Amino acid sequence: MRPQEEVKNVVRTAVEEAAWAPSTHNTQPWSFVVSGEEISLRADADRKLTVSDPAGREMLVSCGAALFTIRAALRGLGCEPVVRVLPDPDRPALVAIVRLGGAVVADDHDRRLRAEIGRRRTHRGDFSTLPVPRSLMDALCREAETEGVRLTPMPSESAVHTIAALTQAAQEVQSQDEAFSRELMRWSRAPGSARRDGVPADAYPRGPGEAYPAFAQRDYRRGQEWGYDRPLSQVMPASPGEVAVLTTSGDSREDWVAAGQALQRVLLFASAYGVSAAFHTQALEKEHLREFLRQEVCAGEYPQMVMRLGITFDEARAMRRPLEEIFEKRP
Ligand SMILES: Cc1cc2nc3c(=O)[nH]c(=O)nc-3n(C[C@H](O)[C@H](O)[C@H](O)COP(=O)(O)O)c2cc1C
Repeated sequence: MRPQEEVKNVVRTAVEEAAWAPSTHNTQPWSFVVSGEEISLRADADRKLTVSDPAGREMLVSCGAALFTIRAALRGLGCEPVVRVLPDPDRPALVAIVRLGGAVVADDHDRRLRAEIGRRRTHRGDFSTLPVPRSLMDALCREAETEGVRLTPMPSESAVHTIAALTQAAQEVQSQDEAFSRELMRWSRAPGSARRDGVPADAYPRGPGEAYPAFAQRDYRRGQEWGYDRPLSQVMPASPGEVAVLTTSGDSREDWVAAGQALQRVLLFASAYGVSAAFHTQALEKEHLREFLRQEVCAGEYPQMVMRLGITFDEARAMRRPLEEIFEKRP
């Protein structure tokens, strides 16, 4: 039996850290209910992107990332997480219940992952030309595999160009779609905004990138001159980085949660080795483009995340809602 005070602290810390998981447009589409030694993670449908993500796939990928973060935090804190994913079909918003299991001694891997939870940031823009070592890419693939998800680095230049072209096409179509643009605008924050969700203006570089092929960025700027300066990058050659796709063999809600868990596992591991990730999910939001990717690039598996991995010296900012907003405590 753990003392009650210890349980309270462990659970609170795990929820606090889970809030630093990545989420689509930083919607943070989750809430947490704590009851004794149990944490319930719920998807917050009010924060779903109804235009770009009507099925809630990206919402559940985001919740999966939060779930893995709870697991990583608990292991780092010396508690084995006991997890039930989507435990109740009658309560579809209940993504998972995590119970504090027996005591564990965190190993080096556990400690490394936990240490990156607050440090990891999404990168938007070019990477330096410093390569991501092949051995690290192999290790990242193994991390994903542990969660039953496949991470595939694109094996050829033509596959990289295909993904860049599809991203560009999807970005073009979305930017001309009024409903898409309005939704994106709702989640992009002007400089100085007091909001603690959405994508802030200092989370992306000012101006276009130079790397080839170019990977279209979301237009979080709303046509303004927003973004941080990149004094170092301006004098350094640029690279798109290693393009990789996270895929699952099925496309159920369980698969989406698994993809999110694998995503965060890969991101934290990469971050521990100084490697950041940029995401390009525009093409996954257009069903026919996603299907094309599935067949042409993903060997029939379902693409859940398109990312570039690389080394950057930029420092993007991120923010989160206060704990009181996401944390509900029950006796
Ligand atoms: C499912 C999912 C899809 C995402 N898609 C994109 C994307 O297309 N473009 C982008 O710049 N960031 C994307 N992101 C990253 C989020 O915008 C980012 O996680 C969020 O703004 C919080 O910032 P942080 O990751 O730096 O903490 C995505 C994240 C998730 C989980």
